Amino acid sequence: MPLRSLPYVLWEMIKHPVWCVEFALQGGPAKLESWERYANGDSSAAGIARTHSAEVPSVQTWRDLERLRTLWPGSLIVKGLLHPDDATQAISLGVDGITVSNHGAVKLDSLPATIDVLQGIVSAVDRRIPVLFDGGIRCGTHVIIALCLGAQFCFVGRAALYGVSAAGRAGADRALQILRDEISHTLAMIGCPSISHLGPQFIAETASDLLA
Ligand SMILES: Cc1cc2nc3c(=O)[nH]c(=O)nc-3n(C[C@H](O)[C@H](O)[C@H](O)COP(=O)(O)O)c2cc1C
Repeated sequence: MPLRSLPYVLWEMIKHPVWCVEFALQGGPAKLESWERYANGDSSAAGIARTHSAEVPSVQTWRDLERLRTLWPGSLIVKGLLHPDDATQAISLGVDGITVSNHGAVKLDSLPATIDVLQGIVSAVDRRIPVLFDGGIRCGTHVIIALCLGAQFCFVGRAALYGVSAAGRAGADRALQILRDEISHTLAMIGCPSISHLGPQFIAETASDLLA
């Protein structure tokens, strides 16, 4: 931790004493447990994190994907695509599915919103492989819109994480239940009998679309 962050961290610790006690009782920083066996005997959180950063390449290219495809005979899904050409390229390398994602825009800001690029990618894929989707889903209507625009499956990141922050596992369950209820409510409101009937016909063209 940089020294200049110390006053800020100490102030946060003073403000959250219960969290600090729980943190200490639970053994400190969370570990990337699935990486523990590769950490050459150093099973501390810092040791595993070091192994993880050394092993995960910071730059990945289409050649890496080509190699992975030859090494891995199972299902291969590529996550993080935002352009129709990349989707086409991924298909030509034999992937089994893609996830349209900007990783929650936590790696690079000013990326396009995933919902804005979804339709173009769905058209390029043209039903050859499943198109999965994430990014910015905070309520049931967002899931419905993504499915109408051609996503076959939606993931949520922070929506469930906020539930975890509020109430642990029960909070995540509650957040997912809220999403399920909102999805059912939205289907009823738009007069759609089931998820499998969703499609672009349920999306209204707005005046701003016509002007764009
Ligand atoms: C705290 C945090 C850590 C994440 N870590 C990773 C990661 O290691 N690898 C990855 O592919 N995506 C990672 N993501 C992105 C999520 O997998 C997912 O794409 C994103 O959260 C979806 O957007 P949403 O949070 O708006 O639902 C992370 C997201 C958050 C919020």
